[in-house]
Amino acid sequence: MEKTQQTSRPSIVPQNQAQPKRISAMTALIQTAFAGKIKALEIGVWYGIGSTNIWLNNLQAGSELTLVDAWRPYASQADVSGVDFRPSHWDYAKMDSLSTEAFLSAFLNVKKFENECGDRDIDVSLIRGNSGKLLSRFKDESFDFIYIDADHKYDSVKRDIVNAKRLINKEYGIICGDDLEKLPTPGLVELARQYKDRDFIKGDYGYHPGVCLAVAEEFEQVSMIDGFWWVVCKNGSYSHDALDLGAAQL
Ligand SMILES: C[S@@+](CC[C@H](N)C(=O)[O-])C[C@H]1O[C@@H](n2cnc3c(N)ncnc32)[C@H](O)[C@@H]1O
Repeated sequence: MEKTQQTSRPSIVPQNQAQPKRISAMTALIQTAFAGKIKALEIGVWYGIGSTNIWLNNLQAGSELTLVDAWRPYASQADVSGVDFRPSHWDYAKMDSLSTEAFLSAFLNVKKFENECGDRDIDVSLIRGNSGKLLSRFKDESFDFIYIDADHKYDSVKRDIVNAKRLINKEYGIICGDDLEKLPTPGLVELARQYKDRDFIKGDYGYHPGVCLAVAEEFEQVSMIDGFWWVVCKNGSYSHDALDLGAAQL
């Protein structure tokens, strides 16, 4: 019997989910926005070798970095079975099966940093918990910098942003996140309302509907470079201060 030709790309679940094209913008933002030590929060750590390393490599000595991740399966049934919507090579079921490995990797990466950081002392806390419940335990204005990259479905992103707005330093702070591929337009926002249980929808638009809808609802202005988005909070107001990084803006 003839073998069937495999034409589709093999499925992937990257251990490092910081997209190469976004790394320079993420690095430039943290370097430009803060000259001294800060308190930083990352929501969504995965293996701890992507965005986490960017913050570890660029925070000033004396900073604190709190890492929060549920490290539990979180794909929706629609995403696991909805081959028509996800990127053709992305395997949500496999991603869910790796949560324990990801947790152990994140711990080992923090230990590696602590062993190798020398004088550049950063106080790293690693917390396993659902951000929706866990963030309520932190006091108002606990952080100067908050990076949101956990579950990208609408309800979760919305909750993470609402929590971040309470937790950010109102005098000066930055809330940022991953996977806003396109600045929200009325058309993209309307489409996103139909796909609140999806991580990603492909097609000509190819975007994360939950991130787009939640960002559009929570911020009037936002800066974005290659899908990495941020807003600056100054004296209690949010603006799309591009910090001279050349961002697209809403
Ligand atoms: C896109 S990955 C993070 C990628 C990582 N920032 C990097 O650069 O490699 C999303 C992560 O969010 C976590 N996550 C999903 N839902 C969560 C929730 N409700 N609370 C906390 N973490 C969650 C997942 O366990 C997963 O590790």
